Amino acid sequence: MPVRQIDQSFTMTYQFPVCFDRDTLAPENPLLRDIVERAGDGPHRVLPVIDQNVLEAHPDIVDRLQLYADTHGEALELIEPPLIVRGGEISKSEPTEVDEFYLRTQTQNIDRHSFALVIGGGAVVDAIGYAAATAHRGIRLIRMPTTVLAQNDAGIGVKNAINYRGRKNYLGTFAAPFAVINDFDFLATLPARDKVSGIAEAIKVALIRDGEFFSWLHDNREGLAAFNAEPTEYMITRCAELHLNHIRTSGDPFEQGSARPLDFGHWCAHRLEEISASELRHGEAVAIGIALDSIYSHLKGMISIDSLNRIRATLEGVGFTLSHAALESLDINKALQDFREHLGGKLCITLLTCEGAAQEVDEIDHVLMERCRQHLLEGTWPS
Ligand SMILES: NC(=O)c1ccc[n+]([C@@H]2O[C@H](COP(=O)([O-])OP(=O)(O)OC[C@H]3O[C@@H](n4cnc5c(N)ncnc54)[C@H](O)[C@@H]3O)[C@@H](O)[C@H]2O)c1
Ligand SMILES: [Zn+2]
Repeated sequence: MPVRQIDQSFTMTYQFPVCFDRDTLAPENPLLRDIVERAGDGPHRVLPVIDQNVLEAHPDIVDRLQLYADTHGEALELIEPPLIVRGGEISKSEPTEVDEFYLRTQTQNIDRHSFALVIGGGAVVDAIGYAAATAHRGIRLIRMPTTVLAQNDAGIGVKNAINYRGRKNYLGTFAAPFAVINDFDFLATLPARDKVSGIAEAIKVALIRDGEFFSWLHDNREGLAAFNAEPTEYMITRCAELHLNHIRTSGDPFEQGSARPLDFGHWCAHRLEEISASELRHGEAVAIGIALDSIYSHLKGMISIDSLNRIRATLEGVGFTLSHAALESLDINKALQDFREHLGGKLCITLLTCEGAAQEVDEIDHVLMERCRQHLLEGTWPS
């Protein structure tokens, strides 16, 4: 027993809106102004941080931001110039982006009452989320995710991360954003590959949480592959809703336990991203991971062949290629061990019990998993 012990305990409520919108930067659109005003009387200083590829695809974005701030000067004051950062995984793998953000906070006196407004893909949102959470122990962050994957997953939750010495997401924090604005209009300029990539997270969360949504994804796979606006926007909204529900109701928003149902298919996905030196997009690697763990679930007798066939049809139907050279170099043993370490000691892998429900297991049959890899590599799934 210590000489004296004081049991410290307090609770804190987190609250942030996740909005789905169009033309957010139109001067007459009040959403961004209203969000900033939730912080009290303004004007509030706002540093825009923009993904270079978003800027290239939307060259008027800086002028539009300025016009917006001029129109709503009582609420927002832009910190100039905007910080333009490289898009994609490089923003997480090299220290430049995070460092430039820290430098700006120092040289322009950006404090905990100021805002960072990050506009970009999941990688930039993750990197700047990490920088904003650590500068001054936390600057208010408004996220404006601009990819499918960032709008339905990466940009809406409470995590951020950067990579460290080649290890994916090694440095990161749990930090709730001030608000999230998913503006669907950004998606029009996404490369085809990135349009498809984000659908993996919707298939993932549907398979573990919502069989009806999975059936919907299966039935709408052609419309999703064609990126028709109506199914795409529904897919993003429902996927985001399921992620948010999980974070709110799981009882473990900051992942202190070992179970990570939202990481279904991810134990190998992160390794595949590393092996391919990020040539594989996160969503593409997740699609392969879902396929691998679905085949394993079937061979373990947990899901039917019909379900397995529907999973394959959905993944391939929306446009994923499920065999990739990186799979050949995957060290299954090491990948599972790394995942266990990441969880904090106990292995916990999510498998499927049907379309819409999952089960955690603490052991993987390596010989069987090896067979699953061969099925995927050769494109000869169990039948
Ligand atoms: N924090 C989390 O909870 C979480 C969850 C899932 C994924 N992630 C992370 O998200 C990242 C993947 O995000 P992603 O799939 O958005 O990829 P990404 O950020 O790499 O974006 C893909 C490409 O599209 C470009 N781009 C972004 N928006 C565009 C637009 N509107 N028009 C044209 N080009 C645009 C980007 O610059 C990039 O080149 C990974 O690093 C992954 O680890 C984080
Ligand atoms: Zn993911």
